[in-house]
Amino acid sequence: MKSITLTQFLTEERRAGHGNTDLNQLLEVVARACKRIGVATGKGALGGVLGEAGSENIQGEAQKKMDVLSNEILLDANAWGGHLAACASEEMEDPQQIPDAYPKGGYLLLFDPLDGSSNIDVNVSVGTIFSVLKRPENSGDDAATSEFLQAGREQVAAGYVVYGPSTVLVLTIGHGSHVFTLDREVGSFILTQRDAKIPQETSEFAVNMSNQRHWEPPMQRYVGDLLAGEQGPRGRDFNMRWVASMVADVHRILTRGGIFSYPIDASIREQGGKLRLMYEANPMAFIVEQAGGAASTGRGRIMDIQPDALHQRVPVFLGSREEVETAERYHRETPH
Ligand code: AHG
Repeated sequence: MKSITLTQFLTEERRAGHGNTDLNQLLEVVARACKRIGVATGKGALGGVLGEAGSENIQGEAQKKMDVLSNEILLDANAWGGHLAACASEEMEDPQQIPDAYPKGGYLLLFDPLDGSSNIDVNVSVGTIFSVLKRPENSGDDAATSEFLQAGREQVAAGYVVYGPSTVLVLTIGHGSHVFTLDREVGSFILTQRDAKIPQETSEFAVNMSNQRHWEPPMQRYVGDLLAGEQGPRGRDFNMRWVASMVADVHRILTRGGIFSYPIDASIREQGGKLRLMYEANPMAFIVEQAGGAASTGRGRIMDIQPDALHQRVPVFLGSREEVETAERYHRETPH
């Protein structure tokens, strides 16, 4: 079988009228940076990259050495290409401008450099999530934070990379979600699934059950009915999976269906949720919708939220369309 590399795929998409040379080069640079992150993660203890960095990020979370290294790899890789005006990251309070030594471009890049990094020390899959926006017209020299605050539906591309048993890139530029697997010997991402579609029927859900006591009534009722199985109102048994790496949980759902949820609860009400809108929820929502699924806060489409802060958090329900709609129905129908 003839293999299609990421470069060839993006070139053919451009010829079909999807994307452009600048966007393609930007995506290739991001993919190349992710290969480097994958190599560093893969070395594990041998590379001296496990453990704490001894610092905290803007969200007050302890940074792992690999959080810091992955952030640096993405920033360095994206500085020189001429396609970006600035980058925003989970690990930095404010956007980082492209250095003056390099030309600036018309795109903005947002990323969670190492999602699920608390899993790295125990050798469980981690990943990178990214989102690409266009800079608003007539912007000044430096890209202001306000330029990043665009609704998710404005994204021009989004992707994630899972560093697991194999390294997998899932990418959308708004014409389907496509899966690439890294050929580690050759060093190229090879298209392994064009236009992936999330199965609509599902009997699998992903949630951190240890938060149950803090959930709102609609979530209590929704999960209660899932757990009631065949004898309950849903009339069938459901299985539960929780990797605690969003990339790994979402990739499972892309592959075999299911619903991923990180709802609002009393312990995180003040901060608005657990997952970050701009570089976790929005890019995942774009990929999932392009794969025929749905992504909601439980009360509305994630990609319709008008952001008001770079590190804003939101409740997240995403995956098989019918199941996400069912979770939304519980939120509409249950008083809280
Ligand atoms: P981070 O980017 O800080 O590593 O956060 C990980 C996220 C997400 O990947 C995962 O779904 C969730 O946090 C896990 O949360 P719990 O620790 O509550 O299970």
